[in-house]
Amino acid sequence: MCSRPSAEIAIAADNGPALGYAAGMPDSTDARLAAQYEAYPYPKRDPRDEARRLVIGSPSHLREIEFWVFGARRATSQPLRALVAGGGTGDGTIMLATHMARVGRAGDVTYLDRSTAAMAIARGRAEARSLANIAWEARSILDLPGSGLGPFDYIDCCGVLHHLPDPTEGLAALLSVLAPGGGLGLMVYAPHGRTGVYMLQDALRRLAPPDLPPAQRLDIARRVMKHLPDSAWLRTNRNFSDHLDGGDAGLYDLLLNPRDRPYDVPALYALLEGAGLSVTCLMEPMRYDPAIYLPDPKLRALAAGLGPVGRAALAESLTANISTHVAYCVRTADAWAPPDAMAPDAVPVAREMPAEELARNIRADGVLPFVFDGLRVPVALPPLAVPILKLIDGVRTVGGIAAALAERGTPAPVFAKAWGETWAKLSALNRILLAPPP
Ligand SMILES: C[S@@+](CC[C@H](N)C(=O)[O-])C[C@H]1O[C@@H](n2cnc3c(N)ncnc32)[C@H](O)[C@@H]1O
Repeated sequence: MCSRPSAEIAIAADNGPALGYAAGMPDSTDARLAAQYEAYPYPKRDPRDEARRLVIGSPSHLREIEFWVFGARRATSQPLRALVAGGGTGDGTIMLATHMARVGRAGDVTYLDRSTAAMAIARGRAEARSLANIAWEARSILDLPGSGLGPFDYIDCCGVLHHLPDPTEGLAALLSVLAPGGGLGLMVYAPHGRTGVYMLQDALRRLAPPDLPPAQRLDIARRVMKHLPDSAWLRTNRNFSDHLDGGDAGLYDLLLNPRDRPYDVPALYALLEGAGLSVTCLMEPMRYDPAIYLPDPKLRALAAGLGPVGRAALAESLTANISTHVAYCVRTADAWAPPDAMAPDAVPVAREMPAEELARNIRADGVLPFVFDGLRVPVALPPLAVPILKLIDGVRTVGGIAAALAERGTPAPVFAKAWGETWAKLSALNRILLAPPP
């Protein structure tokens, strides 16, 4: 979504606050950004498509929020008050509101964006689905403090902070309406996986300066794309496709955006830590573990000594295919701890693909083939993973699964070892999570 995990791209002009910008001052680059999303609401969506599919992704999948923000400890009987800040044409809002409606979850989703054109499309999508659990706010994120909105238990801000004149100010505005114990799901652009984008942005600033009318800039960008030299890095970059299949909105957002500032892992952590936030997970956690790319024991040992941020940074630099970072985070003072997946009353649940279907994808040699943006990673699972997955239905507890397998002759310690290994791998792939209590 944002076609979150995969197709959310934009462009660079400024790598930081605009020259002369100060909080509260008008900023001409920001005015151009506002005009862009009014003319080309992003991403390109048609409310009629709601009849045939739900766009899903990260952040803001309900199961992810329950696990990665609330540690599967927050009862589902508690209402969930969510804010989608910079909601665009509605992907996050529609997904979360639909998930909540499906399970009858109390609470609501507040969509906020300053683009009235984007909001009109998002509203059309909500109407197409007869969703009655969304509130609509046409205003700036920067106006949140003192707005009377909130507090919110969960805030989505996907593909927005990196466009703001001052992302730190934007984050502070979001935190001003975050309820105690709440958390955020963020997405920001990542530099290495967007190789080629910033070069083309630079070329287009020369051919189609930001002060030209948007339609003229778009025309020039289309002509450039027709004659893109074979050597251009954008040609070989397969991590996103907005410029190929995202329509005018996708091309403009990728190559003509007046401001986007990518964050590598250390820069993202610095931004979040500066705001008093701790990351509970980067999505998917496994792809940020360099050990999966480094079979050499010496390299693994060196990587292990780097600390969590260093290891994630190493994975990002090594693979070079991460074009966006999706991070769930909570206030550092709230100290998120992973729930105990070995507890007999824990309830494993498949995030999206039914666990039984996941089991069918495991090869005879016990390997689950997984692809991270074109990079194949063989995930080795124990032989018991298949029968365990077949028993995961979002209701049965770990104790219940152990008992069912004991009846078929699996001793408790054998189950515990196999479940521990299966859980470690499949939760790190964000495929199997734990369900919250009722
Ligand atoms: C790249 S789009 C992302 C849309 C959506 N979050 C998604 O992931 O599909 C960025 C959105 O942020 C909105 N935006 C940018 N600056 C904003 C601000 N200061 N206040 C509110 N919305 C803003 C734009 O209007 C646009 O709809």
